[in-house]
Amino acid sequence: MTEPQSTAGTQGATREGIFAGDDPFAIARRWLAEAEASEPNDPNAMALATVDAAGLPNVRMVLLKEIEAEAFVFYTNYGSAKAQEIEASGMAGFVLHWKSLRRQIRVRGHVTREEGPQADAYYASRSLQSRLGAWASHQSQPLASRASLMADVAKLSLRHGTNPARPPFWGGYRITPVEIEFWADGAFRLHDRFRFTRADSSRNWQITRLNP
Ligand SMILES: Cc1cc2nc3c(=O)[nH]c(=O)nc-3n(C[C@H](O)[C@H](O)[C@H](O)COP(=O)(O)O)c2cc1C
Repeated sequence: MTEPQSTAGTQGATREGIFAGDDPFAIARRWLAEAEASEPNDPNAMALATVDAAGLPNVRMVLLKEIEAEAFVFYTNYGSAKAQEIEASGMAGFVLHWKSLRRQIRVRGHVTREEGPQADAYYASRSLQSRLGAWASHQSQPLASRASLMADVAKLSLRHGTNPARPPFWGGYRITPVEIEFWADGAFRLHDRFRFTRADSSRNWQITRLNP
């Protein structure tokens, strides 16, 4: 039996400890900060789900780079399979799972590109090898050999020097959620789950406690 739905601010008062607060982005930031202290590596790794043209699901890991006031941002190649699937549907989902904390966050939402100054700044923050790698990789396309990829990196290094501009085919995606669920391990598999939903970002979040 699920508890009745209520708006943020009413049921919010009954959520305590790790679930406290009515802003799901603040809760996500808090959980990620805790994971950064306890996970052995890549606490920001998330499994990103898309669907292809036939509706066949596709999942792969990407790194969550920003938790904004209203959205989650990751970076990738705009020619990749995930990008094509996102561009076709305008939607994606992801899950963050932290083994050390025994917690997960699930998100589903609408996706737009981040290909402005924010993407430029993130690109510029990466190591030179990573920046050149982004230029060299035709992500998700067949590759003849590792050697041909490294030869391309060397060629692009000569062409772009030590301060390459962000490739026009590489940038961010911003996922604006319609649904965020927080899950934490409980004794005897009686886990705690809270789902935040809203039709669009002008509305209040509806918060529902879910059965394990
Ligand atoms: C821990 C981890 C983090 C990754 N982070 C990213 C990322 O931030 N961006 C990205 O494009 N690929 C990332 N990858 C590689 C993707 O999982 C995937 O292989 C690649 O993006 C191609 O996916 P696609 O063919 O579905 O587009 C990561 C892989 C792992 C294992």
